[in-house]
Amino acid sequence: MLALLILGFGIFYYSQSSQLAFLVMCGLALVLGITLILPIGGADMPVVVSMLNSYSGWAAAGIGFTMNNSVLIIAGACVGSSGAILSYIMCKAMNRSIIAVMLGGFGSKVAADASDGVQKPVKSGSAEDVAFLMSNADTVIIVPGYGLAVSRAQHALQELTSKLISKGVHVKYAIHPVAGRMPGHMNVLLAEADVPYEQVVEMEDVNNEFGQTDVVFVIGANDVVNPAAKKPGTQIYGMPILEAHKAKTIIVNKRSMASGYAGLDNELFYLEKTMMVFGDAKKIVEDILKAI
Ligand code: TAP
Repeated sequence: MLALLILGFGIFYYSQSSQLAFLVMCGLALVLGITLILPIGGADMPVVVSMLNSYSGWAAAGIGFTMNNSVLIIAGACVGSSGAILSYIMCKAMNRSIIAVMLGGFGSKVAADASDGVQKPVKSGSAEDVAFLMSNADTVIIVPGYGLAVSRAQHALQELTSKLISKGVHVKYAIHPVAGRMPGHMNVLLAEADVPYEQVVEMEDVNNEFGQTDVVFVIGANDVVNPAAKKPGTQIYGMPILEAHKAKTIIVNKRSMASGYAGLDNELFYLEKTMMVFGDAKKIVEDILKAI
C-alpha cells in the first residue's frame, strides 16, 4: 500500500513538479523503510544489511541514468550486483528466501527466544580438563566462531592443533558459512594463522562426521551450533547448523552464558555431555597448550 502511494506521489511530482508531492513521497519512503526493517530478527540482519547495500548501488545507477553519467551507472551497477550476489549467498547459507528478503517479509513471525527464563545448571571445567580430553581423543573437530576473531586466538589455536596432530589426534576445523561477522570470516582467520586447507572442512562435508567424533571444541561460536535452528518458531529456525550436539563430548569455550548474535539461548550448553570452559578464547587455548 505504502509502495503504491509512493509510486502515485512520484508520478504526480513528475507530471506536476509539485514540491509537496516530493516531500510526502520522501516521508512515505522513510516510513516504508523503517517498517520493513523493524520486524527483522538479529540473525537475519546481515542479509538485510547487504540487501540494503545492494539497493543503494541500484539507486546510484538509476541517478546515473537520469544525469547521463556513465561513471555513476557503472559504479552503481557494481555495488548493486555485488550486494545482490552476497545477499543470495547468505540467504542460501541461512536457508532463507531471497524473494522474502526483497519483499520485506523476512523477519520470522515468531521472534521467540528458545530459553524458558529458568536458570539451568551447566557443567564447567578447566583448561587442564580440556587438555586431558583432547589428548586422549582419536578425533577432534574444532568449531570456530565470532569469539575467535574477538580474542584473536587463531595463532594459539593453530599451535594447539599442531601439537594434537603430533600426538596422533585427527583434528579438523568445521566452518559454518555465516560464522563470524562476514562471509569467509573464519577462513580468513585460519589462513592468517597458516592452517593448512585440508584441515578446514565446510559444513555440508563435516556434518555427517559429528556422530563419530570423540571431542568437539566449540570456540567462540554460538548461533552456528544452536539446535534451536531446528525448532519451529525460533528466530533462526531453518538455518542449517553445524551438528556439534551429535558428538560424544562437547567442549564450549566462551566468556559467559550470554547469547550470540541472534539473542537466543543455546540448548547445547546444557547437555549432559557438554563441558563449558569459561574465559577469553586466546587465554584458554594458551592454557590448554601449556597443559598438554
Ligand atoms: P555468535 O552467535 O555471535 O556467538 C559468538 C560467541 O562468542 C558469543 O556467544 C560470545 O559469548 C563469544 N565470545 C565473544 N568474545 C569472546 C572471547 N573473547 N572469547 C571467547 N568467546 C567469546 O557467533 P557465531 O556462532 O559465529 O555466529 C555468527 C552469527 O553472526 C550468526 O547469527 C550470523 O547470522 C551473524 N552474522 C553473520 C555474518 C556473516 S556474513 N558471517 C554477518 C553478520 C552477522 P560470550 O559473550 O559469553 O563470551
